[in-house]
Amino acid sequence: MQSFERTTGCGLVTSIHKKTVITLAGWVHRRRDHGALIFIDLRDRSGIMQIVISAEQHPKIHALAQTIRPEFVIGVTGEVTERAAGTINHELATGAWELCAQSLTIFNRSKTTPFQIDDADNVDEELRLQYRYLDLRRPEMLKRLAMRHDFVFACREFLNKEKFYEVETPILTKNTAEGAREFIVPSRVQKGSWYSLPQSPQLYKQLLMAGGIERYFQIARCFRDEDLRADRQPEFTQLDLEMSFVNEIDIQNVIEGLVQCVVRITTGQELSLPLPRMEYADAFQKYGCDKPDVRFGMTIHNATTLFAGTELSVVRDVLKSGGEAGALLVNNTQFSRSQLETWVARAVSLGAKGMIWVRLRADAPCESPIAKYLPADFFARVKAIIPEAQEGDTLFIIVGAYHDTWIQIGRLRLQLGEELGLINKEEFQWLWVTDFPLLEYNQEAQRWVSCHHPFTAPQEGWEHQKPDQLKARAYDLVLNGVEIGGGSIRIHDAAMQRAIFDLLGLNEGSMQDHFGFLLEAQELGFPPHGGIALGIDRLVMLLLGCSSIREVIAFPKTQRGFDPMMKAPTKVDPIKLREYGIIVRTGSE
Ligand code: AMO
Repeated sequence: MQSFERTTGCGLVTSIHKKTVITLAGWVHRRRDHGALIFIDLRDRSGIMQIVISAEQHPKIHALAQTIRPEFVIGVTGEVTERAAGTINHELATGAWELCAQSLTIFNRSKTTPFQIDDADNVDEELRLQYRYLDLRRPEMLKRLAMRHDFVFACREFLNKEKFYEVETPILTKNTAEGAREFIVPSRVQKGSWYSLPQSPQLYKQLLMAGGIERYFQIARCFRDEDLRADRQPEFTQLDLEMSFVNEIDIQNVIEGLVQCVVRITTGQELSLPLPRMEYADAFQKYGCDKPDVRFGMTIHNATTLFAGTELSVVRDVLKSGGEAGALLVNNTQFSRSQLETWVARAVSLGAKGMIWVRLRADAPCESPIAKYLPADFFARVKAIIPEAQEGDTLFIIVGAYHDTWIQIGRLRLQLGEELGLINKEEFQWLWVTDFPLLEYNQEAQRWVSCHHPFTAPQEGWEHQKPDQLKARAYDLVLNGVEIGGGSIRIHDAAMQRAIFDLLGLNEGSMQDHFGFLLEAQELGFPPHGGIALGIDRLVMLLLGCSSIREVIAFPKTQRGFDPMMKAPTKVDPIKLREYGIIVRTGSE
């Protein structure tokens, strides 16, 4: 490489290079041998350029080019010429040009790669992750990482203009009691003691406010040892921020400005502000979840009154014991009987005891497996709660305890929306969800737990309310039914913090053990403050239209939390473990 000087990128060749001699370097994307002429598609991160090597003009180079295989790393110098009219490749940015090679250097050879770089879409994901560096050579992967770079860079620029300081917080830290299970790291110096990897920089960022930083942000790596899904990784990145002397709207305004800026940069779209807002109770009632996908309607209706006085015992008994009936109205779709049976089975697989379907008729008895139990005025009753209901529409009804039933219908709604093609995939629908409950009762643990985290401030009047009535000064940002971010106004007063810890069942001893430093800071001039964290991986995934966050992370883990390239996690030599005072027992213990 010493005397080699690349002059431009493969994808950057334009008419300004016409008839000039340039030098390119990159990977051999494809090689086509036409006897006297060899064509090479040379690829670097900027794109692809066609190289032509003529046996007649440069026999030595031609002979060398015959040994070249895909993924060899080469350098080529030559003159840029215009391709003949019929040979222009309109799919390539450089498709009107070719480089007539005058010299060729092979920097490195490649064995046959485990998969073809331009066919990786059809390759098992674990193999792609095992050879991620090959996978990253694909133009779409490079483009995603470039977009992610632009995204993060834009966040930094935006927040810098808004007078935020970027501050790094520790990775070796202490349990923050945020909910998910933690990764722990043994201390060698203090045998028997363990650090926790941060689930988020939550307490550190609050303490930065105590430290007078006033406006903090961080592109923060977070670690959570939880079950993985398409939108979850054990380590992920948050855009984390915190502000002093603010209320909910101040924080949301900053985020709206930031989101408008990154959407413009990554998609070219102009987001209109302010973003819509919905209270949690409303979201749950209409969508059966706290992160509604509002790209389509078909909201949940409370259909309990349809069954007032019913003689159908399964429904009557549930309603008598306080249950309710939730319904979705599906219009413009003619389901066959067998399709309806499939949807009943789907509802059951979502946890429902069953599902009733009713095909609406205005002047005749409605069709339904429970038709004989439906009152004569059923259609009129339906119109009273769902005015838009029409003859021929189908009602899907689930009866059961409110909370569980609404979750089941909410999930059924999403499946219906997906399968009936009701979702416009080009659309971005943002939403703030506000006024969350502060606490929820965990049946398993038999105690109240925080919906957000224990440092979230309750809304006014909390001193006089029962735990199930308390509302939080918390807000989530939702995009197309995915939770993109969550934040809150925090508690800055030790007495309030103690009262909340008390509701969560912490006694004085455990308060001191876990959060003594926080309670002390709250008695040493802690300013009012609040903040939010956005999941960068999730947001970039949605903005780029990817279906998994693994597609926008350079080196992600598999669904089993495994790194197939490095083969992590792995066993550690028992001798090394002894230095940490650790003995691993095998077997069931
Ligand atoms: P929360 O737990 O809601 O809040 O996390 C904020 C956002 O981080 C993203 N996220 C994840 N992304 C990928 N993989 C995961 N396993 C994962 N878990 C969470 C989501 C989520 O909305 N400290 C608080 C924020 C605050 O109160 O300021 C917190 O971490 O997009």
